[in-house]
Amino acid sequence: MRLSRYFLPVLKETPADAQIVSHRLMLRAGMIKQASAGIYSWLPLGYKVLRRVEQIVHEEQQRAGHIPVLMPTLQSADLWRESGRYDAYGEELLRIRDRHDRDMLYGPTNEEMITDIFRSYVSSYRDLPLTLYHIQWKFRDERRPRFGVMRGREFLMKDGYNFDLTKEDALHAYNRHLVSYLRTYERMGLQAIPMRADGGPIGGDYTHEFLVLAETGESEVFYDSAVTDLTFGDREIDYDSVDQCQAILEEFTSRYARTDETHDAAIFDRDVPSERQKSARGIEVGQIFYFGTKYSDAMGAAVQGPDGKQVNVHMGSHGIGVSRLVGALIEANHDDKGIIWPEGVTPFHAGIVNLRQGDAATDAACDELYKGLAAKGLEALYDDRDERAGAKFATMDLIGLPWRVTVGPRGLEKGVVELTSRRTGESEEMSVTAAIDRLAQIYGV
Ligand SMILES: Nc1ncnc2c1ncn2[C@@H]1O[C@H](COP(=O)(O)OP(=O)(O)OP(=O)(O)O)[C@@H](O)[C@H]1O
Ligand SMILES: [Mg+2]
Repeated sequence: MRLSRYFLPVLKETPADAQIVSHRLMLRAGMIKQASAGIYSWLPLGYKVLRRVEQIVHEEQQRAGHIPVLMPTLQSADLWRESGRYDAYGEELLRIRDRHDRDMLYGPTNEEMITDIFRSYVSSYRDLPLTLYHIQWKFRDERRPRFGVMRGREFLMKDGYNFDLTKEDALHAYNRHLVSYLRTYERMGLQAIPMRADGGPIGGDYTHEFLVLAETGESEVFYDSAVTDLTFGDREIDYDSVDQCQAILEEFTSRYARTDETHDAAIFDRDVPSERQKSARGIEVGQIFYFGTKYSDAMGAAVQGPDGKQVNVHMGSHGIGVSRLVGALIEANHDDKGIIWPEGVTPFHAGIVNLRQGDAATDAACDELYKGLAAKGLEALYDDRDERAGAKFATMDLIGLPWRVTVGPRGLEKGVVELTSRRTGESEEMSVTAAIDRLAQIYGV
């Protein structure tokens, strides 16, 4: 993409009403525009990051054997009356009436709708286990929408639902989700720690939240500092293996890590050496639940078991805050100049800065670089504007592409361009071909 033809409405001034750094940087970098309280348009740069986050979530869900579907945003109130949540959900539920006076709602989550789909088609234990998920916009009429996309009213969520014959099978589904979530966040370059949490309105005894530690997080958390040393890495996992998934759950959840809702100071003091006791703030980027037969009992979702008897299925639901993650990624990756995207989610793989626009040799080298990267499947944002070098660098630093290639007449006389890491600020001179090869190596293409 040539910047001269792109739509990147960066702001010079810091928006006054944005309280936290990710919100400020998303506005300044032209990623989002507020449409109304807690509701945002995603501008090209922001939309690219959102799509990359979404893509990683899709890939990891499908790797775990979960099947994508797409359910609508608007739901019939009747389904929610069956579960009892139409009245119970409270003010966050946006209730809508259509022209025929039918009660509708904008879905804050989809347990009822997925259970209805399930009961309409599945009647035998032979069709289990089954996990369906979708990535769809949700609406919750939050009392205080704030922090930009981190606490919106309309937000993008991945929500998945498992259907199993027994509690044991459903707990395997729970563990499978935990493992797939660990992989998902790590691929984005984020550490999200599973912590014991509270069931809330979805209900249930087994639940973990995934938290990214950040000063601006809305949750208060308590943990054994040893949990921050754990990484999933590139280990192979068989998602069908009950033992493997259980072992990973134990590895990642046996040490103390809880949100304030479940924190127990006595257990904390008893089990965690004092020098490892940490309290901090965290951003909730996901949550998994097992809630048994709560919805299958209420809505009559049963299958015939091996012995011919009808059994209400055991279920769980599992969410990832896709749009919130874009904000969380910035909270965890920025400096005073702007965003620093991890390679896994960056909107462009590299930026190209032309120091002398209109100089034939410099323009040609930039074109060669741009085309060479494209040939490897790498997308560059080429700053071909007639601007001062300082302004071009400031824009690149603000939007946070992890690698910048600077091309100017002085370097080209020596046959080199400069490759700079946004994270370390370190630069290295090399030929155009070497820069293309280096970036291909970094991105593993
Ligand atoms: N208002 C929101 N704006 C953006 N993302 C949200 C919002 N509410 C929830 N999410 C994301 O969706 C995920 C799954 O939804 P869940 O029902 O667990 O949310 P929640 O526990 O009600 O969130 P919170 O406690 O932050 O209000 C959350 O972990 C979070 O990442
Ligand atoms: Mg939650």
